[in-house]
Amino acid sequence: MTTEPAKPVRRTTVPQLAARKGGDPIVSLTSYHAHTAAIVDGYADFILVGDSLGMVMHGMETTVGVPLDLMIMHGRAVVRGTKKALIVVDMPFGTYEESPNVAFRNAAKIMKETGCGAVKLEGGSRMAETIHFLVERGIPVMAHTGLTPQSSHVMGGFKTQGRQEDTWPAHEEDAKAVADAGAFAVVLEGMVEPLAAKITKMIDIPTIGIGASADCDGQILVLEDMLGLNSRPPKFVKVYGDLANQIESAVKNYAEDVRDRKFPTEDQVYR
Ligand code: KIV
Repeated sequence: MTTEPAKPVRRTTVPQLAARKGGDPIVSLTSYHAHTAAIVDGYADFILVGDSLGMVMHGMETTVGVPLDLMIMHGRAVVRGTKKALIVVDMPFGTYEESPNVAFRNAAKIMKETGCGAVKLEGGSRMAETIHFLVERGIPVMAHTGLTPQSSHVMGGFKTQGRQEDTWPAHEEDAKAVADAGAFAVVLEGMVEPLAAKITKMIDIPTIGIGASADCDGQILVLEDMLGLNSRPPKFVKVYGDLANQIESAVKNYAEDVRDRKFPTEDQVYR
C-alpha cells in the first residue's frame, strides 16, 4: 500500500475570505499568543491580533496607548502558532492616521516583521484614501467602522452607534467608502442591529459583526470574553467557557498542595 504524502496545509487567503460574501458565515476570534492561537486555528477562518490586547493582556484603560512594537510581538507569536487561518494584525492608534505614506511604512513593517496576511485599521470615509493607497501597494486591508475604540475619547466612551436613525446615512457612507477604497472586509462594531443588517446588504465585501447583527457575513469576539475570563463582559458577548473559575480552582489546588507538601510527588522529581 502506498501512502500519499500529506498535503501542505494552506492558510486562508484574502481573496478566499472576500469571496465568502453572502456565503457560509465567517468565523473569527481574537488571539494574542501562540498557544491559544493554535487552538483557535482549528476552527477560525481568520484570527485577529486585535489592539484590544492592550486592555485584555496589559491592563490598559483604552487601546490608545498600544505601541506598534507590542502589536508586532504578539502578531509574530500568533503567526508562529498557526498554520491555517488568515492572520490579521491591528494597526494601533497613531500609526496610520497622519498620512497614507506613514500608514504604508507602518503596515509594511507589521507585515514584514510578523508574517501576517493583512492589517486592520479603524475609520470609514476619512480613511478611504489611505486604504486605497495601501491596497494599491500590496497591503490587504480590513476596515473597521461603527464603534471604533481608538476614537473612544472623541466618542465620549464605548458607545453603541446608530441609536438615532438620522446618523445612519453617515455610517452607511463609511461602509461604502471603505468597500470602494478596496478593503477586503469590514468589521462592524457596536452598532444597532438593523443598521448592521442594512449595511451588510448594501456593500459587496463581507461584514464581520461584533455587537452588530446575526445577518453580518461573519462574527468575531474577543477570545478572553467568550472564554469567561472577563468578569464584566459587554452585553453582546455570549460566554462559552468558565475559564476564570477553572484557573482559580487550579491555582487554589496548587497552592494547597505546595503548602501541604503534596507537590511535587515522586512523579514530578528526577531520581
Ligand atoms: O481589537 C480588537 O480586538 C478588535 C475587535 C474587537 C474587532 O478590533
